[in-house]
Amino acid sequence: MVQRQFPKPRDLAPLMQFKKFDFNATRRRLSAALTIEDLRTIAKRRTPKAAFDYTDGAAEGEFSIHRAREGFEDVQFNPSILRDVSAVDTSVSIFGGPSAQPFGIAPTGFTRLMQTEGETAGAGAAGAAGIPFTLSTLGTTSIEDVKAANPQGRNWFQLYVMKQREVSYGLVERAADSGFDTLFFTVDTPVAGARLRDRRNGFSIPPQLSLSTVINAIPRPWWWYDFLTTPPLEFASLSSTGGTVGELLDAAMDPSISFEDLKIIRELFPGRIVVKGVQNVEDSRTLADLGVDGVVLSNHGGRQLDRAPVPFHLLPEVAREVGDDLEVTMDTGIMNGADIVAALAMGAKFTFVGRAYLYGLMAGGRAGADRAIEILSDQIERTMKLLEVSTVEELEPKHVTQLQRLAPRTQVRPEAARAAPGA
Ligand SMILES: Cc1cc2nc3c(=O)[nH]c(=O)nc-3n(C[C@H](O)[C@H](O)[C@H](O)COP(=O)(O)O)c2cc1C
Repeated sequence: MVQRQFPKPRDLAPLMQFKKFDFNATRRRLSAALTIEDLRTIAKRRTPKAAFDYTDGAAEGEFSIHRAREGFEDVQFNPSILRDVSAVDTSVSIFGGPSAQPFGIAPTGFTRLMQTEGETAGAGAAGAAGIPFTLSTLGTTSIEDVKAANPQGRNWFQLYVMKQREVSYGLVERAADSGFDTLFFTVDTPVAGARLRDRRNGFSIPPQLSLSTVINAIPRPWWWYDFLTTPPLEFASLSSTGGTVGELLDAAMDPSISFEDLKIIRELFPGRIVVKGVQNVEDSRTLADLGVDGVVLSNHGGRQLDRAPVPFHLLPEVAREVGDDLEVTMDTGIMNGADIVAALAMGAKFTFVGRAYLYGLMAGGRAGADRAIEILSDQIERTMKLLEVSTVEELEPKHVTQLQRLAPRTQVRPEAARAAPGA
């Protein structure tokens, strides 16, 4: 028989202590976001469809990005037991310097389109968190302004070798002059991937006002207020070249780039050279033999070749083949700090996040970028503790089993087919 009593006001009082209401709506919104997916939901609500889709979308059927994320979902973690993990150290050394976390911000073009603070927010947030920030050739904040936003931290520059070579070489020199210590040479864009969402949305830069754009803007007044009252959206480091945006984009992708270009860049840039967009073991070997400092295994977040290899799956073999000769890093599909831990265990020295940070940026500018980094960092620390490792170096392949949904189809041997007619 349950004994019952009348609740006394004294007992009720502690239950009535409501959380203080935060009058800052951005802070309220961001602190309610517990995952990168939550930030994505907020981002979608606050950003005009064409800008959100440009960020969120990928090429063709979007299989590459879907499979990359699925690759991380299909991780089984194998924890150890009874180790002291009261303190974990998530810091790493990468490309000749430190990073407080095993991830950095990937280069993204048109970042001020997503939210007006753009790269300034990204670089500032990266600097505050002690992680590197990578500025894209197609960035909407100049090399010098990124340096000003992150004066003490590590800034890296991503290069598209353009048809007008002297424009690219000029950027390499400016990045070096501004103290950028690492250069990414992106090699997976001989031509632009077919981003069908952009075509369907009639996406253009700067955004054009059509009837549907105006209707879509009604619930998103702040984005438009920011857009219309801040400096025009342009490729900040390229503006001196003139030409329309379309011409600049076309010029940024040159199908004739080759290993010769890599040699020239090496001579021009005094810091570390990293090739971004590597997708197999053989190319990794060639690059190691040529003496590059690192590779980013990446399919460009699924925005270029669709049905490309999953970079996370390439890791073990590439790390085994060239891990002693250069630093193997990866991106594409990272939505959770646990994804980063899994990549490190499978042989990555470092990882990069593109959309995970951009969802934060769209959800709340600088504060949103900070929140994205905080969410990922918390997830990394918690996953490491639950795996019972206290440093990144302790992570090993034994900590992860890569489960596979889409296994390569087994070749049917002709004699087996003959032995089983009608099978
Ligand atoms: C909106 C957007 C713009 C991008 N622009 C560039 C770019 O200018 N140069 C580049 O090398 N990679 C670019 N990328 C690819 C990223 O550097 C990175 O490889 C990719 O975002 C990683 O996948 P994730 O978004 O799943 O993290 C872009 C990615 C996105 C989402």
